[in-house]
Amino acid sequence: MTKLKNKDLISIHDLSLQEIEDIFALSADLKKKQQNQEKHEYLWAKSLAMIFEKPSTRTRVSFEIGMWQLGGLAINLDQEAIGLGERESVGDVAKTLSRYADAILVRTFEHAKVIELAKYANVPVINGLSDLLHPCQALADFFTVIEKKGKDNLKNLKMAYIGDGNNVCHSLMFAAAKLGIKLVIAAPKGYEPKAEIVKTSFADAKASGAEIEIVNDPVIASEHADVIYTDVWASMGQERQRKTKNVKFKTFQVNAELVKLAKPDYIFMHCLPAHRGEEVTADVIDGTQSVVFDQAENRLHVQKAILTLLLGGNNG
Ligand code: CP
Ligand code: NVA
Repeated sequence: MTKLKNKDLISIHDLSLQEIEDIFALSADLKKKQQNQEKHEYLWAKSLAMIFEKPSTRTRVSFEIGMWQLGGLAINLDQEAIGLGERESVGDVAKTLSRYADAILVRTFEHAKVIELAKYANVPVINGLSDLLHPCQALADFFTVIEKKGKDNLKNLKMAYIGDGNNVCHSLMFAAAKLGIKLVIAAPKGYEPKAEIVKTSFADAKASGAEIEIVNDPVIASEHADVIYTDVWASMGQERQRKTKNVKFKTFQVNAELVKLAKPDYIFMHCLPAHRGEEVTADVIDGTQSVVFDQAENRLHVQKAILTLLLGGNNG
């Protein structure tokens, strides 16, 4: 029996290896049921309130359709409508939504807002992306890696993350650290992952035997990699930095030359949305070794598993 019932999902650092494995096992089961068109209404009549302060395609649609497939309801509250922290305090929104919904999902800028929401809510709070972390993405990503490379081979894999030391990178670090995977991050000087995340994920890695390395050279990271992962250089909210970053990150582009250094059977991953011609060239992201749409699809199955476990559905 998993211990996820009634918990928040704010950071992968807070999850045990067992809890991550429980999420993956249920994701695989739900994926099979979905493919076989078997009913799986584990959250019948349950509800999810979703707050989006930033745009979203995958997160919003996977949680909304996922909740519906589980027999429940999801409602979308955009920032204009709810005014989190502006029209009303974060605490009052959290307390009010807790009276209606069985869980709250939030996508916001400051990570502190996610923590504050969880502090005042008495239903599970799910981090749908903050400037610091994107845990639901990284869980779906490693579920995809396992599907493609096999569970037993996990500890022998090398994942290269090339680009900005951002929210996605931080969550990949926490997940790799728990799962015992080798992760080499190549970021330009000054754009490495945040010191607080490095410290915590390195401590987790020490406990699990994972190796996490941070370098400033994409060549070192890509050599003999099984997985090459990148994300946009300018994240949501950093639009004004896009021009500067395009110059500073130029040599960190994932292109045909760079992926030649990886293993012949490497896979290319990207959380999407992508900017072809910036962090990745079209031939790589649209090539045969790209699994970006499998990743996107797996957001649905993994999100459904997270919801079922946190809300204590049939398998919770
Ligand atoms: N990867 C991801 O979270 O996509 P969206 O921003 O479209 O939700
Ligand atoms: N780092 C990106 C991820 C988008 C899913 C952003 O925060 O915009």
